[in-house]
Amino acid sequence: MLEHGGNLRQAAEQYGIPLDQWLDLSTGINPDGWPVPMVSPASWLHLPQENDGLEEAARDYYQASHVLPVAGSQVAIQALPLLRPATTVGMLSLAYAEHAYNWSRQGHTVLSLSVDNIEQYLPELDVLLLIHPNNPTGQTYRVEHLLDWHQQLSKRGGWLIVDEAFMDSTPQWSLAAYTDRPGLIVLRSLGKFFGLAGARCGFVLAEPVLRARLKEVLGPWAVSGPTREVARLALSDAPWQVSTRQKLIVQAERLKQLLSCYSSGPDGGTSLFQWQQHSEARVICDALARQGIWVRYFEYPASLRFGLPGTEGQWHVLQQALQRVEIFA
Ligand SMILES: Cc1ncc(COP(=O)(O)O)c(C=O)c1O
Repeated sequence: MLEHGGNLRQAAEQYGIPLDQWLDLSTGINPDGWPVPMVSPASWLHLPQENDGLEEAARDYYQASHVLPVAGSQVAIQALPLLRPATTVGMLSLAYAEHAYNWSRQGHTVLSLSVDNIEQYLPELDVLLLIHPNNPTGQTYRVEHLLDWHQQLSKRGGWLIVDEAFMDSTPQWSLAAYTDRPGLIVLRSLGKFFGLAGARCGFVLAEPVLRARLKEVLGPWAVSGPTREVARLALSDAPWQVSTRQKLIVQAERLKQLLSCYSSGPDGGTSLFQWQQHSEARVICDALARQGIWVRYFEYPASLRFGLPGTEGQWHVLQQALQRVEIFA
């Protein structure tokens, strides 16, 4: 199993600091997520049903014709490699590592690409898989380039998979509206912008044949009743979505500015995290952890990902801790 951010229990054990004394910035989850109400008792007591309004709410929110709810986009990341015979799949080398891991595990050939050589390798690929915006680098793409790459792939039965887990703040860049085209698959998550990481809910946006094949692999009742209810309400809450988009833009800029005071500034990011390369990233991560702040460390290239603090107190704690990191002195 791969390591991920959010592994606070492990950090607490490693550094001997009680769990409740940590500031967890190791994920890109909105710290001020959608306010979950009590769900109806019936949602616990009955089998989940498809005609409960969730698919409709998702189609509206994503502006997509065909949606398949899944128990977190991670489930789709694991299942999609099962749907193709031996394939050559290209993806950026620095990306959410579960993609490469799962395609390799199913015996596919994974080509590590850089942003600059995608076009060059495209003729060799059956599948191009991009995270947009990329986690952790924040790399973005122009919609017309993505659609052009999709067209080239789909002509020969290939796929473009776009993992849009961090797209909710910038819906204008989404390919969701084009997912009725064969071979174009978009993954969405309720675990980031909506902050509903524990609910385990995501969506696959894809044309009906592929959606049906995936559904077959996942089996019935893929998403629990309480999660379906909460997801439907969150996806329908347009006022919360609008104000959250505005808030996150401000918070992301604040984090960028704060990190810029202690280094050359982040090398990339999204509205939910900032990514910073530093030759001493390991040492900085350790120095922050000793002060009870958990950030995500990447070995290659040496870098750190900082999620957003959730309260004024947490911003203050982060600022104080950064000041005490010797390398920044
Ligand atoms: C880029 C990306 N895609 C997908 C996921 C999986 O998210 P979830 O299964 O919670 O929808 C993650 C989780 O960190 C991620 O970073």
